[in-house]
Amino acid sequence: MRINSPKLNIMYKACMKASKSLIRDFGEIENLQVSSKGPGDFVSSADKRTEKIIIEEILKAYPDHGILSEEVGKINQKNKTNRWIIDPIDGTSNFLNAIPQFAISIGYEEDSQIKNGLIFDPIKNELFFAETGNGAFLNNSRIRVSKKKYLRHSLLGTGGPRSSSKIKNAIFHEFVKISKEVETPIRKYGSASLDMASVACGRFDGFWQRELSYWDVAAGIVIIKEAGGFVDFLDGEVDESKKRNLVATNSLIHKELLDLIKKKNIEKD
Ligand code: IPD
Ligand code: CA
Ligand code: CA
Repeated sequence: MRINSPKLNIMYKACMKASKSLIRDFGEIENLQVSSKGPGDFVSSADKRTEKIIIEEILKAYPDHGILSEEVGKINQKNKTNRWIIDPIDGTSNFLNAIPQFAISIGYEEDSQIKNGLIFDPIKNELFFAETGNGAFLNNSRIRVSKKKYLRHSLLGTGGPRSSSKIKNAIFHEFVKISKEVETPIRKYGSASLDMASVACGRFDGFWQRELSYWDVAAGIVIIKEAGGFVDFLDGEVDESKKRNLVATNSLIHKELLDLIKKKNIEKD
């Protein structure tokens, strides 16, 4: 693995340690699925266990750094300069149903700018990572976004809406609107971090989704940018609580997809 950056090294170490128990837990899920209890509680403990291992490794190296992680929330909030953003299992519903499409996602920010990102799919053994200025990689190979020029010929991914979403209908309308403009049906794989990684390595030409959380996509932002793609939040460069509605592409179809999404204000739909 060509990792020469101290931050990426910590991410890698934390991720490898955490993924050992995660892989074991995933093996257990298949048994639990057919048990009467079901895997629900087991999954939330797998989530917490994974998160704990990652946070411990990071704080061992950088005890005063800030952390934003899905399950525990914020740690060392006073540190506004250095912050790690963690999603211990992205794709929980897949994990819960023994579907091998989930990942550990870790991003590192300096002064609110994502500098490093790592997304690890422990089942396919695919490690996506990037550092600003040094390119993006999948395992040992440099990755680049696709060269597709037109939305019509593009393969897109998306996700949601959650059952609790207040703009569910608008999200469905948006899906229909975009579906009509592409030849290949849109993919919904249930792990936003892996959707971002798919854009970075050219499997997807674009990905968009509303109502995401920052930890779903933080690592993917730098990986896509370093692979030559564009990432935009529909509400502009705002603080992370508003970084929820995202469009990420190979850059070439960016304007076309963004224009289409913005064509009608879906919140007022
Ligand atoms: C979810 C996944 C999913 C996306 C949801 C996220 P989780 O994360 O990324 O693809 O559609 O919006 O919440 O709950 O599995 O960590
Ligand atoms: Ca997530
Ligand atoms: Ca999660």
